[in-house]
Amino acid sequence: MDALTNIYSRISTRDFSNTPVAEEDIRAIMHAGMAAPVGRGLYDTLHITLITKKELLDEISKAEDYSGARPNAPLYGAPVLILVSSKLGEKPAIEYSNVGCVMQTMALAATAKGLGNIYLWGCIYRLKSHPNIVKKFELPEGFVPISALGVGYSKTPLETTHKPRHVISTNSIR
Ligand SMILES: Cc1cc2nc3c(=O)[nH]c(=O)nc-3n(C[C@H](O)[C@H](O)[C@H](O)COP(=O)(O)O)c2cc1C
Repeated sequence: MDALTNIYSRISTRDFSNTPVAEEDIRAIMHAGMAAPVGRGLYDTLHITLITKKELLDEISKAEDYSGARPNAPLYGAPVLILVSSKLGEKPAIEYSNVGCVMQTMALAATAKGLGNIYLWGCIYRLKSHPNIVKKFELPEGFVPISALGVGYSKTPLETTHKPRHVISTNSIR
């Protein structure tokens, strides 16, 4: 798959099967995250945590009431969660861009591996109210969980796409 086809084919998966994901694929996705651009090259302000422990995934899922959300929210049955945490500066902003870059790079790597993936922010944000769960992530001192990539095999076959599925308005100054 060439780079643009990879970019166009990425799609949020919300119907994961419980088929196990190969450890080498997970590691490849995590390593891809390390290739992301990060402001001022401050890679040590970021931390990546692999979570496959079913009890912890269930705890995250049940931390809040998601009954009014999409079916199987918030993790949609993803058997693998790759959590991206950051240290927050005094004026947090760039940290969220950094995490977004790592997340997208991992999402593209997962897509290239034929794995479903989804950017999860909402349920990770809500863990602010659940320090007992955050403690179980064993993060280094000062790191805050910001987003997680759900990864696994999609029950719906993934398609190869050759153009964007969304539109963002543009203008040109020539
Ligand atoms: C910063 C960010 C946060 C997101 N948070 C969630 C989330 O918490 N739950 C969810 O189901 N999807 C979440 N998404 C996925 C978006 O809803 C999805 O990317 C968007 O609707 C476009 O669809 P596509 O990914 O299939 O192209 C998030 C995406 C981004 C970039």
